[in-house]
Amino acid sequence: MNTTTAPQIAGNREESTSSKALWPSVRHVAASLFQTYPRLPVLVVLFSGIALAASLIMDLSLSYKVLAAALMASSSFVWGFWARASHIRRFPPLSHLHRRQYAATWDSLAGAREEAYSAAAGHYKDEDKLRRSAAETVRNLTDLAPVRAVDDVLEVGCGVGRIGRELAQTCATWTGSDISANMLSIAASRLEGLSNVRLVQLHAVSLSEFENNSFDVVYFTNMLYHLDEMDRWQYVQEAFRVLRPDGRIFMDNIDMESQAGWDMFARDAIRYKDLERPPYTPRYSNAAEFAVYFQRAGFAGIQAHHRSPLVIVTGVKPSAE
Ligand SMILES: C[S@@+](CC[C@H](N)C(=O)[O-])C[C@H]1O[C@@H](n2cnc3c(N)ncnc32)[C@H](O)[C@@H]1O
Repeated sequence: MNTTTAPQIAGNREESTSSKALWPSVRHVAASLFQTYPRLPVLVVLFSGIALAASLIMDLSLSYKVLAAALMASSSFVWGFWARASHIRRFPPLSHLHRRQYAATWDSLAGAREEAYSAAAGHYKDEDKLRRSAAETVRNLTDLAPVRAVDDVLEVGCGVGRIGRELAQTCATWTGSDISANMLSIAASRLEGLSNVRLVQLHAVSLSEFENNSFDVVYFTNMLYHLDEMDRWQYVQEAFRVLRPDGRIFMDNIDMESQAGWDMFARDAIRYKDLERPPYTPRYSNAAEFAVYFQRAGFAGIQAHHRSPLVIVTGVKPSAE
């Protein structure tokens, strides 16, 4: 997950947000212009180069030469900026899909391995970085769920098996489930040879593929902010059903109550102000939302763990009387 901390919003929130709005809007206009006309920067550099050469050959006045040189310098800068920006992977807008078309959305984002790595975990293109990126979540799961050597563990929304690849070494069995067949097929190739691992495709917002009381830990990481709130609730109820008595649930989301989480939300609000919001646009949350679901579903021992920008909420299915 990309959890880069944005600049702090200081002092008066309204004032600072509006003053910060200018730069993203300029960038947004420039980006849309260059996306529509990708050859524009190079043409402007060429044009200003010719103008500079002509002003030197024809020995025009100093102001012409300075103007042409300034145009060439600034357009080269813009060209460089554009060349760098165009190397950053951009996700397709998928504006023909709505949020709850989860399978279609995520299959589109996971058409090829590299794309799937980026969609699942940020800009991790190579295997080593992807594996290292799992360390923090594995530590949180081990400390807070907690995951133990005897446990049967289920991840919902496992993507390419980034966490499972590491966590499977610490538990009895690890089951990865996901709604995207494309994500699962990449996960299958990454997890090949691990004997305590299985992958299961989900066909709806439900865990109907699994029996009642069949896991010790069910966790959701780096996925709930893509879901509609009622679907989060649906999954909490399903997790309760498939957990054994004393089984633990673990959910994380970007915490709007943390400064870093709020900054991410505020930045998205500016970025998407006048744009169609793609179906995977994050929907951040806070501990109270999950605590209500957990309580209503019947979990006990509910705890919120603040790990800015994340909040992790854990709970326990009460033991049978
Ligand atoms: C950002 S990725 C995170 C993957 C993984 N948890 C990780 O941290 O590497 C979100 C995953 O959730 C899956 N997903 C999206 N909507 C889902 C849904 N309704 N049910 C189950 N999985 C879903 C996607 O296919 C994708 O693999």
